[in-house]
Amino acid sequence: MDEIRILEVGPRDGLQNEKTFLSLKDKHQLIVKLSNAGLNHIELGSFVSARWVPQMKDTSKLVQQVLKTQSRGEIPQHINFSALVPNFKGLEGALDSGIKEIAVFLSATDSFSKKNINCSIEESYKNYKQLCRQALKENLKIRAYLSVCFYCPYEGRILPSQVLKWAKKIEDLGVYEISISDTTGRANALEVQNLLEKLLSQIPASKLACHFHNVHGMAVANVWSAYQKGIRSFDGSLGGLGGCPYSKVPSGNIPTESIIYLLKGPKDPAIKKLRDAAFWLEKKLNKKLPSPFLQSPYYKNKNS
Ligand code: HMG
Ligand code: MG
Repeated sequence: MDEIRILEVGPRDGLQNEKTFLSLKDKHQLIVKLSNAGLNHIELGSFVSARWVPQMKDTSKLVQQVLKTQSRGEIPQHINFSALVPNFKGLEGALDSGIKEIAVFLSATDSFSKKNINCSIEESYKNYKQLCRQALKENLKIRAYLSVCFYCPYEGRILPSQVLKWAKKIEDLGVYEISISDTTGRANALEVQNLLEKLLSQIPASKLACHFHNVHGMAVANVWSAYQKGIRSFDGSLGGLGGCPYSKVPSGNIPTESIIYLLKGPKDPAIKKLRDAAFWLEKKLNKKLPSPFLQSPYYKNKNS
């Protein structure tokens, strides 16, 4: 349980809000770079409507190509790949693609749920109950996200009791882990501590992860706060890219490099490799990424 688990969400949460379309070839190259950096779990994309999130339209092809590359031994066998699924149509796509793990995503407020997936929390829970039953029958592993656990862009501050109520219900879906998400990137370390104390009174730490967006640069402090509370599973995005299209403001993600530096130490070889991958992605997207490691004088050359 003491081992740190990191889920790289850059190819999904990082890219989903990007206007510049990254070609299938470049997405595949990105996954190879992330795999070679030593990450163990990468979220490849989402089986959602291309009308809602155009960047994710080729997720199925990407999954198939990545799994083929892995079966040829060019991506290490131990790396897990997953993708988001909003409904039965998405599940069908996931099953056809051959992916072995899916992520379901629910919200702690109705307003966010309606903006994000066009239905209330109750409706989405009801749909997911059937969907998860089917997915488990198909031997898929299931992870869950719970969005807007601290602040909702439409309803403001969220009470920990409301988050606990939905987290408990989500546990019943048969998911192996629930990622407690600060969708709007507004939480601070004390709020993280308070919410986790509430959740941990009824859910074991081994079943919780944290997903911090980074509007105010608080995400690293929030990871540390969660770590102190016993959480060992964290989501990060290469270079700090990303954010949900329905969170109103561009929210960025905690850079994966920052989580590794904080919890595994500055000498972890993944930091340099991720930094190189982030420079590559900056060129492809023609924009600067927010990770401080891209500016750091200490990771400038091979010998640093
Ligand atoms: P809808 O419009 O209510 O769906 O969208 P519908 O069932 O009425 O169908 C409308 C059309 O969409 C139909 O096509 C369907 O076939 C198609 P048409 O007949 O008009 O041509 N459709 C689909 N196409 C592909 N894949 C599907 C699918 N389902 C229906 N799965 C829907 C409902 C959920 C599809 C839509 O709202 C959607 O795609 N939303 C996108 C949600 C999303 O990707 N949000 C971002 C990810 S969540 C996130 O970022 C938060 C997280 O990071 C944690 C955090 O930070 O909080 C995880
Ligand atoms: Mg997110």
